[in-house]
Amino acid sequence: MSKVLLIESNAKLESIYTLNLRVYLGLEPVTKKAGQFALKMIESDDSISLIISRAKIGEEDTAFLIYNLLMKKNKNIPMIVIGTITDLGLKQYSIQLKGGVDLKSLIKRCAQAINITAQMMAQKEVPKYFSIPANYFLELTASNCEVFRQDFDDSGNVIYKQVFTVGQAFTPEQVKQLVSSGVIEFYILRDLRLAFVNQVTSEMITKLTDKEIEEGDKVLLGKISMEVITGKIGEIGITHETVALAKNTMKTIVSNAIETPDLRLLMKNLLDNKAGYLFQHTQVLTYVVLHLVKNIDWGTKEHEEKLVFVSFFHDIVLKQDDWAKISSKDELQKADYSREVMDIINNHARKASELIKEYPNAPAGVEQVIRQHHGALNGVGFDATLNMNLSPLSMAFMVAEEYTNQLILCGQEKINKPLVMAHLRSKFATARFKKIIDVLEQITI
Ligand SMILES: [Fe+2]
Ligand SMILES: [Fe+2]
Repeated sequence: MSKVLLIESNAKLESIYTLNLRVYLGLEPVTKKAGQFALKMIESDDSISLIISRAKIGEEDTAFLIYNLLMKKNKNIPMIVIGTITDLGLKQYSIQLKGGVDLKSLIKRCAQAINITAQMMAQKEVPKYFSIPANYFLELTASNCEVFRQDFDDSGNVIYKQVFTVGQAFTPEQVKQLVSSGVIEFYILRDLRLAFVNQVTSEMITKLTDKEIEEGDKVLLGKISMEVITGKIGEIGITHETVALAKNTMKTIVSNAIETPDLRLLMKNLLDNKAGYLFQHTQVLTYVVLHLVKNIDWGTKEHEEKLVFVSFFHDIVLKQDDWAKISSKDELQKADYSREVMDIINNHARKASELIKEYPNAPAGVEQVIRQHHGALNGVGFDATLNMNLSPLSMAFMVAEEYTNQLILCGQEKINKPLVMAHLRSKFATARFKKIIDVLEQITI
């Protein structure tokens, strides 16, 4: 078996990589926390066939340090580097990944580097009950497949006893208790191992903070987190756990918006990362509302907080991209969904606003804006007539959202700004919208 050396200081990422490499490629990587601890091994061990390393770990130029040693010792071991490389020689020598949370790309690159094909993986023998170290279960609150533990029957044969059913809620304490009773590994059925690993990976990634990841990871981190949260809120509602995840994700989304120099680049990042409509929509909308609050005369820090919150939660009960794209009665009729889906879409604003009532210390007034975001005071259906009783903040949000929708509609094509602005001015024709639209017009696109 090929030996893979993984150099990563972040314990969470190290666990994520180790599990994915093992399950997807049958590799058991050897890990080191920094380049300096790996040098001796690289020099003396001739069985290393691949090195995966962060570009930088703390102050250490990790990848460059390793590359230098390889050159000096005349060793030709392929390198995959996560993060930004500045050295030209290293750039040419290695495979560079801008970020480390795109596991699909990482796995693909590893497979290419050491010539593992899908066919080879398919032919690999895997036991019916596939083992997963118990510590990974500390990261979950439920599993998407049945979980077993090994035991012995009266005649000493190995048997597998179910510990958790699909979707059954469990706590870290329960897992710890099982560990202290001697369970080191849990088992899942082999055919479900990829789906399981994907679940664990997403959930672990969602807990990463933006300080722990590379610049190039932020969009994907936001996307994965949003998917996890939408799923969890649907299952368990607003809890301590979902609130913590939501706060973490809103932070990432805001920092994406602030740190990207302009909206075009942000949209390009989203498209490059195949962000999907729901996340793309939330991310661009956050950019737009931040711009609006910053530049309009009534804008305060509180408004900023409110509108970021609303951008994140307003469509949270919609699970599919095409559901979230619907913004009028007409579009809903044309889409020809089942009664059940129509119901979900028609009631999503009301449902989301009800959910938010459970959110501890939500900014004042967000519940109302979420309820009114399609123009209906009670949050049911879509109302194009712009009721005069809508709150001013709801109106501002609606304009920002319509503007966002128009930008996203343009996709990769050049945005026709005059056309977008004309559309906004005709849709929101009264004087009270003029200032808002004027501010949106200043955004460089
Ligand atoms: Fe929306
Ligand atoms: Fe909506």
